[in-house]
Amino acid sequence: MKVLVATEKPFAKVAVDGIRSEVEKAGYELALLEKYTDKQDLLNAVKDADALIIRSDKVDAEVLNAAEKLKIVVRAGAGYDNIDLDAATVHKVVAMNTPGQNSNAVAELVFGLMVMAVRHFYDGTSGTELKGKKLGIHAFGNVGRNVARIATGFGMEIYAYDAYCPDSAIEAEGVHPLHSAEELYTTCDVVSLHIPATAETKNSINKALVGRMPKNGLLLNTARKEVINEPELIELLTERQDLRYVADIKPDADEQFQTFSGRYFATPKKMGAQTAEANINAGIAAAKQIVDFFQNGNTRFQVNK
Ligand code: 3PG
Repeated sequence: MKVLVATEKPFAKVAVDGIRSEVEKAGYELALLEKYTDKQDLLNAVKDADALIIRSDKVDAEVLNAAEKLKIVVRAGAGYDNIDLDAATVHKVVAMNTPGQNSNAVAELVFGLMVMAVRHFYDGTSGTELKGKKLGIHAFGNVGRNVARIATGFGMEIYAYDAYCPDSAIEAEGVHPLHSAEELYTTCDVVSLHIPATAETKNSINKALVGRMPKNGLLLNTARKEVINEPELIELLTERQDLRYVADIKPDADEQFQTFSGRYFATPKKMGAQTAEANINAGIAAAKQIVDFFQNGNTRFQVNK
């Protein structure tokens, strides 16, 4: 049985060691494809793999076609918009994610970016503090909850909107539930995005919504670039010289965003989950889920059913 770890953005070495140990303990073989730049390398590597561990790596119909022996693909992380779920189902491949395993890392980066933005990217001028400011958490999943926990320490007033989460679960974390995205953006000084990229959410963060933010509003995106309506956000940032956009995912229109000097920042590569701890948690969870699937038929974290 061969388990392939295919990561264009590699895990920390300590995480790869942990994955290897889980895989070998089960009597399987580990293959590693890291930092590949050519899709053909992935197509070649998946040929004889029974299981696949990926991060944001794209697993589309072409990859699934090439992966003749593949039974399971595990996205070591939360968002699985990089897997063609229908094609996986057609190929009888079980697709899974590892929810919650890297969420603290992403939440910590939210605050790294937030402090940097309100301190004017450390340019020496006088910034503002987070204490007492209204934070809006857009979607209250694993990352959103960690953001709320950390925001409490900063003394922020915390609000959340999540269409799928009951008020009681939000209130239990000391957060004020709001009942529409419009209300969240109108209310909050800082909005942090934690929605997945789905047909419903793509392009949904638009001018009408972000334009509701109060003066000096800060929009933080550690979720997905696809949820942003980039042309409309550019229009809005042009009209509203007070608004700021900070992202952990470089927009397609990065060059245009760069013109909003002092009000825009994007990490060169998605860094939210790029910590040793998150790599270890998500990577080892993925390896364990694969072993549990082959040995016990456990499909608890399957996302294509
Ligand atoms: C996730 O969905 O888990 C995060 O966006 C992390 O993605 P990454 O594994 O590509 O860093």
